[in-house]
Amino acid sequence: MPETLYDQVAYPSRPFQQTHPSRMALPAALFGLAFAPVATARVLEVGCGEGGNIIPLALSYPKATVVGFDLAETAIAAGRRTVDSLGLDNITLKTLDILEAGADLGQFDYIIVHGVYSWVPEAVREGVMRLIDACLAPDGLAFVSYNALPGCHLRLLVREMVMHHLRGVKGFEARLAATHEFLHLFLANAPDNDPTTVAIKTYCHSMLDRDPRVLFHDELGPVFQPFYLSEFVDEARRWGLDFLAESEGVWWREELFPSARGKAVESLIGSDPVALHQYLDFLTARVFRQSILCRADRAVDRVVDQGRVRGLWVTGSVRWPDTAVDLDSLAPMRFEFATGAAISLDAPVLKRALCAIGRAWPSAIAIADLADEPDVHEGLLQLFCAGHLELAVGPPPFALEPSARPRSSPLARLQLDGGATTVTSLDHATIALEDAPSRRFFELLDGSRTHDDLRDAVIADGHPPEDAPDLVAKQLNGLARLGLLIA
Ligand SMILES: C[S@@+](CC[C@H](N)C(=O)[O-])C[C@H]1O[C@@H](n2cnc3c(N)ncnc32)[C@H](O)[C@@H]1O
Repeated sequence: MPETLYDQVAYPSRPFQQTHPSRMALPAALFGLAFAPVATARVLEVGCGEGGNIIPLALSYPKATVVGFDLAETAIAAGRRTVDSLGLDNITLKTLDILEAGADLGQFDYIIVHGVYSWVPEAVREGVMRLIDACLAPDGLAFVSYNALPGCHLRLLVREMVMHHLRGVKGFEARLAATHEFLHLFLANAPDNDPTTVAIKTYCHSMLDRDPRVLFHDELGPVFQPFYLSEFVDEARRWGLDFLAESEGVWWREELFPSARGKAVESLIGSDPVALHQYLDFLTARVFRQSILCRADRAVDRVVDQGRVRGLWVTGSVRWPDTAVDLDSLAPMRFEFATGAAISLDAPVLKRALCAIGRAWPSAIAIADLADEPDVHEGLLQLFCAGHLELAVGPPPFALEPSARPRSSPLARLQLDGGATTVTSLDHATIALEDAPSRRFFELLDGSRTHDDLRDAVIADGHPPEDAPDLVAKQLNGLARLGLLIA
């Protein structure tokens, strides 16, 4: 393969929770579609870079089959080194061009195309849709992210000025330096009393804050093509695919419980979901979309039947006053969520359900084990749509109770060995592990040490022997809650 810009300047590779197959499966579950169980799914990532998003999936779900490919040989070589170090045998990483990829890759339950579609030429974009059509299983789901209009008009405006300034400037360092030079020129000299230049300045600041490698590829690369949602969906439909939902949680509110804004749009243009989302993009000047596609012939039922909520899992940080509460009476009880919001509830079934969720957190509870009342299912759905609780199609893939010989994520240990200060959790999140004692403790958790061994190790690390039992318990508990323990 010829050397690409991504070989010259590596793109930071990390997990994105919004691309996780269980995120894709959630709208399918709510809208009445069958979907493949994540634990045994076949997952493909197109343009996977170094595999930072799919290697963790292969680790967390040993019975899943994971394939990733990318045009950049350097990225694939780095990903393979990680796979080899972890000894994973359920993931394959290949150097491959989207234009050469086809049905011979196999059929997949979940296909992820993140950060690719808006940054490749038209023929490759068409190749993305062709590949999804060729490889998506009949019940499969595909995630495609892209820059969105109308919000990206502002980004395009800034990009065009920067690209003008970069004419003839080559190489990573020189292009970055010239970009910063132009952004500072604009920030220092453009007027502060004009709404257009003020909006541009906000965007200039966000560009200056960006990781230089991301800025180099995402903003200064050869292609930057945003789309209206309606254009993207028209293209997907040409390939026998259709829009199922947006993967980010906040958009569910508009799909299931429209806000005043959603209702105003609906009264003007009707309830077609794509049209509704498109108008909401107009009203919010949306800049980015992460859309989930399914095959167009699937019977999507957007009127959520409470029975579908019953089949899900729920999790959330919920707090209530310490004072004794009567869960059986209709006395109102105040609940607070991690979002900072609070609600008052009086129905005993709902109060009991929220207390159970709060006690179990960060573990998830099967809703079927929690309550059978439709009112509870409706309430949980509303709290999810408001962003206070999370719904999922299954339990999270990490241990909350440390075993007799605790074992942390081997990927996270490998990342720490390599000098990283952030690690990937088993739940697909990026977690900062910055303080040296926590990092040293984490490295000990390779499954070979008992709790006594761990206490000896923290004493050897300089802690008083009497503090060691509490310290070990606290560290293990903290790591478990962050989704970093396998056992
Ligand atoms: C912006 S990066 C995104 C990487 C990763 N998906 C992420 O979100 O972090 C775009 C990736 O697409 C890959 N890519 C671009 N054109 C491609 C093609 N024709 N075939 C395969 N991969 C391609 C690049 O090499 C690069 O790794």
